[in-house]
Amino acid sequence: MSLSQLTTSTHTRVEYALGHSSSELDRLTFQASVFAPFTRQLFTQAGIKPGMRVLDVGSGSGDVSFLTAELVGEGGHVLGVDRSAEAVQRARVRAIRRNHANVAFAVGDPAAMRFDQPFDAIVGRFVLMYQDDPVWSLRRITKHLRANGVVAFQEVDTTACRSRPSVSVFDDAARWLQEALRGSGARPDLGLEMHSLFLDSGLPAPEMRMDAVVSGAAESPVYQLLAEAVRSLVPTLQKLNIASPGQVQIDSLADRMRDEVVASRAVAVSYGLVGAWARKLVVEDIGR
Ligand SMILES: C[S@@+](CC[C@H](N)C(=O)[O-])C[C@H]1O[C@@H](n2cnc3c(N)ncnc32)[C@H](O)[C@@H]1O
Repeated sequence: MSLSQLTTSTHTRVEYALGHSSSELDRLTFQASVFAPFTRQLFTQAGIKPGMRVLDVGSGSGDVSFLTAELVGEGGHVLGVDRSAEAVQRARVRAIRRNHANVAFAVGDPAAMRFDQPFDAIVGRFVLMYQDDPVWSLRRITKHLRANGVVAFQEVDTTACRSRPSVSVFDDAARWLQEALRGSGARPDLGLEMHSLFLDSGLPAPEMRMDAVVSGAAESPVYQLLAEAVRSLVPTLQKLNIASPGQVQIDSLADRMRDEVVASRAVAVSYGLVGAWARKLVVEDIGR
């Protein structure tokens, strides 16, 4: 698949506060293993089918691309694109190890790239939340979609993340996540803004769903999910004066959350994954 990057785009960008260190790329893979069933359900519901050519925007370590590659099968193809060269390198190595012949990765921002033919579907997870202007990005990205093609994104709702009855160590960490993301310029509640985002981008009103991990069990991944997200944000928490490393105590955070939730017989809710999907209008629909 040939592609060429436009060099003329001057649009500003939100820095990705979690970085692309090896441990952050490992975190993405751990998070992906927990959320894979939700993403698979969303994409199946959205109409991702065998034989499709799919663009995965903000592919990170490659997990969404790999999952999509299973759905499109050998007759389909997935191109994962990420603006981080480190992430793309990691994804390429993993694709070779996993023997995925129907996946390729490229460095860039699809909003500022050209592709040789339109895609049947465009997907992404936890990526529109990092755009300086998500309407501008989604408009540009969906230009690469054929008429009636599928657009499906899964974005975060950090307001979902809480414990009941309230356990302070868990709820403090949930607040740190939200404030650090917002303070770095990202949109921690973009999931719930996707209805208007789709409309403003010239797409039909999306169908939507929301998923989260909810558990009070000691062995649940819900504590580690939140703790690892906070770990990647420790420098941001400190820089923005939200919490000091001494307050966060990152190495024991997951254990303390688990112990207190279990002792309180509470439940902990992960950040929510809001899925939104629609089909690009065909020209006759636009005139109606
Ligand atoms: C939170 S990670 C999610 C990775 C992957 N989608 C997943 O769910 O595992 C967000 C990724 O999007 C990438 N990204 C953000 N904005 C982008 C853009 N405009 N174009 C390409 N990649 C982008 C970042 O570099 C980062 O690797």
